[in-house]
Amino acid sequence: MKKMGIFGVASLAVALGSTVYLSGTARADIDAKKLYMTHCKTCHGENGKPTDLGAGLEARDFTDAAWQAKATDEQIIKQITNGTPDKMMPFKEKLSNDEIKALVPVVRSFGKK
Ligand code: HEC
Repeated sequence: MKKMGIFGVASLAVALGSTVYLSGTARADIDAKKLYMTHCKTCHGENGKPTDLGAGLEARDFTDAAWQAKATDEQIIKQITNGTPDKMMPFKEKLSNDEIKALVPVVRSFGKK
């Protein structure tokens, strides 16, 4: 095997990908608001107030100041990553770590008047 071929190209892509991941800066290519509208709106509503579906499953009102004050970013990330059985599906297979992190400010934005 003298040629670089597809495997060489793939490992180069992995190396580049992990550099971006490790740099940890905000990613301009992630449209977090759009991710929210695609994956979260059905239950958590367009403006953070739960829809009938969300409320039926006991989803929280993200505009609730008391909840915003209490919830940590880590908890929000963990909830999006792992979900809650029978209530909210986990997103760790659907979204990247960066995308999940990018959703935190969107959830936070609903608490601001
Ligand atoms: C199928 C409906 C559904 C979808 C879709 C959904 N959620 Fe949830 N979510 C829930 C329910 C129900 C809860 C309450 C879970 C519990 O009580 O443990 C919840 C809880 C949460 C919480 C924790 C609130 C707390 O109690 O601290 C956060 C944050 C959250 N969701 C964010 C999101 C985000 C961001 C998305 C999109 C990536 C999303 N959810 C998609 C139903 C949903």
